[in-house]
Amino acid sequence: MNILAIETSCDETAAAVYSTIKGIQSNSIFSQIDLHKEFGGVVPEIASRSHIEKITSITANALKEAVCTLHNIDVLAVTNRPGLPGSLLIGVCFTKAMAWALQKPIIGINHLEGHIFSPFLEYSVPFPHLALTASGGHTALYLVHDFGAYDLLGHTLDDAAGEAFDKIAKVLGLPYPGGPFIEKLAQKVDFIDFFFYPRGTVSGLNFSFSGLKTAILYDLADKNFFDLQTKQPSTQIPEHIKNEIASSLLVCIKDIFITKLSQALALYPQAQAITFAGGVACNTYIRNQIQEFAAKNNLPFFVPSKQYCTDNAAMIAFVAAYKAEKNQFDNYLLDINPR
Ligand code: KG4
Ligand code: ZN
Repeated sequence: MNILAIETSCDETAAAVYSTIKGIQSNSIFSQIDLHKEFGGVVPEIASRSHIEKITSITANALKEAVCTLHNIDVLAVTNRPGLPGSLLIGVCFTKAMAWALQKPIIGINHLEGHIFSPFLEYSVPFPHLALTASGGHTALYLVHDFGAYDLLGHTLDDAAGEAFDKIAKVLGLPYPGGPFIEKLAQKVDFIDFFFYPRGTVSGLNFSFSGLKTAILYDLADKNFFDLQTKQPSTQIPEHIKNEIASSLLVCIKDIFITKLSQALALYPQAQAITFAGGVACNTYIRNQIQEFAAKNNLPFFVPSKQYCTDNAAMIAFVAAYKAEKNQFDNYLLDINPR
């Protein structure tokens, strides 16, 4: 069976072909980062317009790369939740139109389920396992029992981890998205924790990252580098302070992840592995640290290669494949659900 999947939930226009026999056949992506950069974050209206412009050529690329045509496709899949309403609509309308014209089955896929199962694009992960997903829009921990069967153990009560990186990066005058730049600065000072930012007080397996930004802003204000009134830097923050903030932030977020994973392991000792996915999983330092933690607990650790960590359609096609095998199709009235 060949699946063509479309992903437009946020700021990537993506299409991919997955074969249930041969695995991933293509993974075509247009990233809108350059369009949103000057605004320091994703502008929904710009995102939807760009999806309209790119969706046809990105889909054509995915088919070409997979050396097939629409006639070789058995199932069409599309991310229909959660995400930006305008962005989701482009992908869903486009895919429904293709499915209807070709009279082929369609499946709406949960973007977060895509991230949870993205490690399977490259690895065979044993069940049950703990899956940590962290990106600009979500951060959550799951106990994954089987394909399509997982329990949400905890999620962020406010900002996502990637959002924390992006917001602090903006304060430091770094480009959007901030995560990779924070990592570069932190590396310059060897990932040392200089400022011991609060690790959060959320009990249980939920996360909270918004206090972190406040703590950093107050700390900067104390040092006379930030004006809390105007919410602007009061003077140029010296490079070494930027490096130290980036490093302390990164260590702090890593510690929060490891604490939650450790609590989850104590509660669910049946877990056979740990996985880490989503845009933040591109972070080499955090990947290595979780890898060490997993090894100490005698568990294998799986993290997708970077192209499958950030938003992509390959993970959507993979989820669609196991749903199609169970005949879990939708009809042509498929709608979006932004939440
Ligand atoms: O999964 P993704 O591409 O899109 C969302 O669904 O949000 O994730 C983007 C997020 C951004 O917040 C970005 O700063 C973060 O992933 N990110 C990183 C790194 N690369 C991307 N965060 C930390 N370190 C990185 N190297
Ligand atoms: Zn995502």
